[in-house]
Parts: sequence; C-alpha cells; structure tokens
Amino acid sequence: MRLCARQQQLNALLPLFRTLWHPQPFREARPAWCEHWPALTEELLALDDEAATALNADGHAALVALARHIPEVTALTPLLKLEQRQPPPASGDGERWAWEIPGRKRAQIEAFAAAASSDGQPVLDWCGGKGHLGRLLACQWQVPVRTLEIDAALCRAGEQLARRLGVGQEFIAADALGTDLQAAAGQHAVALHACGELHRRLIRLGAEQGVARFDVAPCCYHLHLGEVYRPLASVSSLPLTADDVRLAVTETVTAGARERRLRDRSMACKLGFAAWRQQLSGDAYRSFKPVPEAWMRGNFGDFMAQVCRREGLEPPVGGDLERFERRGIERQREVFRLSIVRHAFRRALEVWLAGDLAVSLEERGYAAVLGVFCARELTPRNLLISARRD
Ligand SMILES: C[S@@+](CC[C@H](N)C(=O)[O-])C[C@H]1O[C@@H](n2cnc3c(N)ncnc32)[C@H](O)[C@@H]1O
Repeated sequence: MRLCARQQQLNALLPLFRTLWHPQPFREARPAWCEHWPALTEELLALDDEAATALNADGHAALVALARHIPEVTALTPLLKLEQRQPPPASGDGERWAWEIPGRKRAQIEAFAAAASSDGQPVLDWCGGKGHLGRLLACQWQVPVRTLEIDAALCRAGEQLARRLGVGQEFIAADALGTDLQAAAGQHAVALHACGELHRRLIRLGAEQGVARFDVAPCCYHLHLGEVYRPLASVSSLPLTADDVRLAVTETVTAGARERRLRDRSMACKLGFAAWRQQLSGDAYRSFKPVPEAWMRGNFGDFMAQVCRREGLEPPVGGDLERFERRGIERQREVFRLSIVRHAFRRALEVWLAGDLAVSLEERGYAAVLGVFCARELTPRNLLISARRD
C-alpha cells in the first residue's frame, strides 16, 4: 500500500475510535465507552491476570478481542501490515565489532544494519551512544562514519571500541537539538532509537540540507513534544495530544514477572493516593508530579506519608489508610483491564506517527518506505523509515 494512502486512511479511521483510545482509565474511573459497551466492559473486568496481561502486551490480540464487540475496528488491520525488511543474518558469537554489547541490543543493531543498505555515502550515526551501529556499518559498508552523541563519556568509550577494531569512525560530542546539519549534505543518516524531537529534527533539517539517504527507527515519539503533536507531512491531519502520542510507545516486551509486580504495586499506590486526594478536595482527577522509586520501597503508609507531605495534604490514618490501600489495589486491577481497549490502538497510532515522518520525506522528493526491521520480541520499536533521494 502506498504510504500516502495509508496515512489518509488512518487520518480518517482513527478519529472514529477516539472515544476508545483517548480516555485514560488511570484518570477516569469509567471512560464513557463503558456505558456504550457494557458487555465489553464486563468481559474485560472479568479477565484473570494471565489473560489481561496477554491482551495488554499484544495489541493485535486486543484489537481482535475488541472487534467481537465493535466490528468496525477491523478496518485498521490491513493498514498495520507493513513490509518485513531483510531478515537479520545469524548472529555468530564473538565477532570483533560487538564487544560489550548485550545480546538483545546487538541483535537489534544487526537487524537494523541488515535492513538498511548503502550507496557508498559517508554515514552520520545520529544520537549513536557508544556508536555500536556506526561501528558495524563502518565495518560492513566500508565507509567513513561520524557518530553524533551528547554524552562525552559515551563518545570516549566508542572511540576506544572503534580504535580496537581499526575502523574509520569519528565521534562528535554535541547536542543533536543544536547541531546544524549542513555537513550532512549528500550523506547517509542513520538513527536507531533517537527519541522524539531528536529523530524529527534529523528528518526535518536533514531533508532541508540535502541528506542523500535516511534509515531511521524512531522511538519515544512523545519526548520534547510540547502539548500537541505537530505533523511533519502536509497530508497528516490527526490531532494528537502528548498523552496520545505516549500511548504509541507504552508497549514493552521486556518486563519480567518481578518488574510487572513492581509496576502494578506502584500504580496501586498512586491510585490509592489519587482517590484519597479526591476525597479530601472533592475535585476530579488531577495529574501529580512523578513519584520517586524509593518511596515505593516501604509499605503503603510510608508511601502516603511522603507523597502527602509533598502535596501538602493530611495523610490517611487508621481505617482510612486500609480503605485507600484497598481502593488503590481495586482501581489498579480495573485500570489494567480497561486499558486493553486503548492498547488495541497503540500500533495504529505508532504506524501513523512513523507514517508522518515517511510521508514528509516523500513530500520533500525522497522515495520512502516504511517497514519492520525486526521481530517485536527484540524491540517493539521495530519500525524503520528508509528514504533516498537520487
Ligand atoms: C536510546 S539511545 C540509542 C543509542 C544508539 N543509537 C543505539 O541504538 O544503541 C539514545 C541516545 O541518544 C543520546 N542523546 C540524548 N539526547 C541527545 C541530544 N540532545 N543530542 C545527542 N544525543 C542525545 C543519548 O545519550 C543516548 O545515547
């Protein structure tokens, strides 16, 4: 399917389901859709932990479950089928380029390198960390590579690794948000998991300055965003808040049982506090500042004492403390289940966001493709925008 046609269809379809993906059950005890679809609500609230965890983790399965109640959502399914790019080569042990790289990260980098291809231009590795991707490309493509990274210590570590391998890779310790891209004219820009405005700036400014090729796997679309998303492509017309954009990247495949327990407890504590604050003030839900991890280490009473002190509220005591702890646990259970509905739309939003970047490059004269460079088990941020201008 043509990029632009997919983007237009998502522009038209996603607003039809906005009442399903926009409300956050963390903030609204019962989003309005619960009243419209009581059977769906009942079915979700009755799920056991295992089934709820599986549906929260698998957007496709969530969409299928939703379609049993709201068949119209299946119109999204064909739009989410993207070209699978080159499968990664079997990863042998001990290649010299890959010293010190954890297995999953290494497999992501190898998959990215296999899915991208070179016309021999010098490479600009954008927000490259220790430059692992750049080092592999310098090795495989035999081209000079410049890795731009804000953290000078990572640059130094990367320089050492490059020297050890004897490849032509240079590091620039600089802020990608302040760097002018003139020197990148005619070059091949690659970016593996540069967050939010970092990848948007590369694409926007890089296209203006005449970058010849792009291979960009975006992540954390919501970072450095402001309150709303401003599309890069003229054809993109879906209004999204920063919270909507964040929804696109809430999927994680790496959480183990312990991490999940900690996440659930942390959410239950916050929901217990939100309920207590609402009882004291009588107001609707208000967001609150992030809570330090350390506050979760003690019991619920310790947590409430700290967060209430910060927010200038009396903490609950005695029966109230127990009641609000229970309330938080019950709310967490419900929020987890009702969130399956939003999570069914996560991939569609991500495809729209990546589609916006890809179409913006088409509009600027590039031949662009949006594909998938690795299995989601390796990383859910597995979309790759590849573009070239001859
Ligand atoms: C998720 S990591 C990806 C690193 C590398 N591309 C990879 O896949 O291994 C994002 C990198 O962007 C860097 N970074 C964050 N803000 C930056 C900025 N303003 N300018 C340049 N680099 C930045 C971080 O230090 C980090 O190394």
